[in-house]
Amino acid sequence: MKLAELKALSKEIAFADTPSLGLRDRVDLIWEDGRLGLYALAKREVLDLENCAMMSPALEAFFKAYRERKPPVRKGSVRLRVSPTGARGVWLDFANQDVKTLFDEKTYLQWLSSMAFVEIGQRRKALVWRDGAPKLTDPILQPWFETYDANMRSIPLYGPVGGFSQAGFVANRALVSEVARQVEASGLSDWVELFSGNGNFALALAARGKRVTAVELDSFAIQGLERSKAERPELALEVQRADAYLKAKTLPALKGRGLLVDPPRAGLRQVLDWLAEGERPQALVYVSCFTDVFVQEAEKLRQLGYKLEQLRGVDQFPHSAHAEWIALFTFAGL
Ligand SMILES: C[S@@+](CC[C@H](N)C(=O)[O-])C[C@H]1O[C@@H](n2cnc3c(N)ncnc32)[C@H](O)[C@@H]1O
Repeated sequence: MKLAELKALSKEIAFADTPSLGLRDRVDLIWEDGRLGLYALAKREVLDLENCAMMSPALEAFFKAYRERKPPVRKGSVRLRVSPTGARGVWLDFANQDVKTLFDEKTYLQWLSSMAFVEIGQRRKALVWRDGAPKLTDPILQPWFETYDANMRSIPLYGPVGGFSQAGFVANRALVSEVARQVEASGLSDWVELFSGNGNFALALAARGKRVTAVELDSFAIQGLERSKAERPELALEVQRADAYLKAKTLPALKGRGLLVDPPRAGLRQVLDWLAEGERPQALVYVSCFTDVFVQEAEKLRQLGYKLEQLRGVDQFPHSAHAEWIALFTFAGL
């Protein structure tokens, strides 16, 4: 059914070969009234999970250990992650009053710290212990995720537990490989990437000898990317912090370059106006996790003179209506 939604764009659409279970290495859960799980829209309540076939074995083991003990607050959001080396991270996004309750109660946080790195709140503060007392410090960025060079060797990606990353390592390998394949197929060596996050594609392309300017708004993602860049000074990678929707005038010039985009669900929006008005990139690789918007924007790109050359899917959200699409467009002229 997912593939059928894109049949009008390309008859040859297919998914890369990935397993249909165990693809998640991070999960976002809701804790409410003694239940830990996902929000069941129809019932308007949290569906308590005991296990989950979508989690990787390492994440599911962490999840089962985590649910052994109930937090002494009524509700909140919980993210669990495992890193490529098996480190465990938890991000508790609870109301301030509830965080205070946890600090006063102390034993829950002690128990949690004994099994995972703990991060708290919207500002991603790290939990540390001083003289037996819990304290919050500045965020600590760690290699929770990874991308891959041409030999599929790991390149660490730094961020807070609560930062954006793709959902899991296995599907991300397929995603990065497909993006790299389409970039190679374009024949271009100089790329601008908008919505780059902490460098999943930018570092992978730079490690394949491409020149890349990465543009991102989130300051944690920028810090993480700067750290990776400092570790790999040989890479031809520039990093720019900008709002890709609102600051079109400050975005890098596209003449003779390729444009890679992996926008949030809202899609490219004003970036399409920028493409309509300014210099067209010779090739555009569009990565999308939201089919409806992708289909609409593919049509707008066609009207702007782009031809869809290749389209591939990575089914990284099996058993849901979502998937990841990777499309190569070339500028065919008006
Ligand atoms: C779907 S993620 C892509 C991340 C990256 N490609 C990856 O694989 O990890 C979208 C990214 O767009 C960034 N973003 C959202 N709004 C933005 C804006 N207005 N300008 C620039 N980046 C933005 C988010 O912070 C996020 O990192």
